[in-house]
Amino acid sequence: MANRERWGSRIGLILAMAGNAVGLGNFLRFPVQAAQNGGGAFMIPYFIAFLLLGIPLMWVEWSVGRIGGRHNHGSLPGMFDVMWRHPISKYLGISSLFVSTIILIYYCYIESWTLGFAYFSLTKEYFNQESLSQMQSFLHSYQGIEKGNFDGIGIAYIFLVITIFSNFFILFHGIKGGIEKFVKIAMPLLLFFGIFLAIYVFTIGTPNPANPENSVWAGLAFIWNPDFSALTDAKIWLAAAGQIFFTLSVGMGTLQAYASYLTDKDDVALSGLATSSLNEFAEVVLGGTIAIPIAVAFFGLSTTMIIAQGGSFNLGFVSMSVVFQQLPMGNILGFIWFFLLFFAGITSSVAMAQPIISFLKEQFNFSHIKSVSIVGIGIFVCVQFVVFFFQFGFLDEMDYWAGTFGLVVVALLEVIVFAWIYGMDKGWEEINRGADIKVPKIFYYIIKYITPLYIAFILIYWTVIDAIPILFMKNQIQENIPYLWGARIMMILVFLIFVFMVYKAWALNKDKFDYHKTII
Ligand code: ALA
Repeated sequence: MANRERWGSRIGLILAMAGNAVGLGNFLRFPVQAAQNGGGAFMIPYFIAFLLLGIPLMWVEWSVGRIGGRHNHGSLPGMFDVMWRHPISKYLGISSLFVSTIILIYYCYIESWTLGFAYFSLTKEYFNQESLSQMQSFLHSYQGIEKGNFDGIGIAYIFLVITIFSNFFILFHGIKGGIEKFVKIAMPLLLFFGIFLAIYVFTIGTPNPANPENSVWAGLAFIWNPDFSALTDAKIWLAAAGQIFFTLSVGMGTLQAYASYLTDKDDVALSGLATSSLNEFAEVVLGGTIAIPIAVAFFGLSTTMIIAQGGSFNLGFVSMSVVFQQLPMGNILGFIWFFLLFFAGITSSVAMAQPIISFLKEQFNFSHIKSVSIVGIGIFVCVQFVVFFFQFGFLDEMDYWAGTFGLVVVALLEVIVFAWIYGMDKGWEEINRGADIKVPKIFYYIIKYITPLYIAFILIYWTVIDAIPILFMKNQIQENIPYLWGARIMMILVFLIFVFMVYKAWALNKDKFDYHKTII
């Protein structure tokens, strides 16, 4: 077995895994999903999905990662190849390389806005955009959609370059010297910022006593008051499952990549649970307490609903920025909010780059520096399209196929390979190897039967109600269609490049990848 890099400490590993999971999804996506899908009632399908999909898949992914790592594989093509000795298995693993890489391409761009807005908060750049519509125009002008505050996309581009550079700077330093070192600073700060802001929100109460119905409490009630009638709507169940996938980073290949640096002595069971719990704390407690309650307190419920319907970015970037202008030391608070988002984003994006970097290193024997450089350049080239065609829905198209649909496909393939092909008995042994807790036996059956069925159901239902209309571009503006095709062509090309790479790698390494010679 090759001498593989290892995590330096248990706390470093858990912080890295939590950093991988806690991301923009916790603070921007979750509150909007909750508010749009029945408020408190959303939490019922959400927690069911957490229990039946999230936690089991977390354990499966950590175990798959460790199995792969034993054979020097940090990405799913190699991991599947170890677990299922069939020529097709490595090609199925490409699905996860595709998902993590495509998400990384657009995620970096959103992440760079948070850095830009952290800077604009400190310098009070937007502090004369007092209304929601003015702030909306500011954001659009920053994104190059509207003319106005910025002359073109230049400033956004500078922050994008800084963001990509920061990501790859960390990645250049490897697992222990880069990612682990960074998350040991970033994650405590992120949690501190999040807790600080959540407590601060409670002190806001009712900002305008003349308007007592606009309060933080009304905002919390909006998210948490259950609308049980929503529970009969299948779409709510899909939204809840989709949120669990995205927020925990399951189905991306990133948890497996991190887990491939574990040793057999390391615990998977408790650490996987700790990671999931930390993510849920950041999502439900912190993510649920900040953006929506603030918006309701300052703009009222109906306006907040309109803002939330407009998408996750409006709430995080537009309404928050208007509020910061009205608060004492608002520029500092704004900086804290956007910097929190930046840390949440970057600790996830470095994880998204890891599978493809591992792939190049391990399957092509490239040096670390060479692998990181190739991925860095590749991402930088692809992100250009996202930046320049942003207004035509380029990013949304990628987000749908990779960040929504793709995750579910990867998770289904993976749970089938793990529980049914590799075998649930061996899989169960793997989950419990070195474990610091006893995983309740019921999860054996959940992973074997319920999780795959649940995912299969989601996938089929989603395909029918969502993916097929989206595939045929129903309800699309005519003007956007060529760009959406552009996004698809780019995704197909990325996919084909990965297919070619897998083919090449296995042809080159016939002997090295012959697991019959090694004990699994
Ligand atoms: N899990 C990451 C997030 O929530 C991708 O943003």
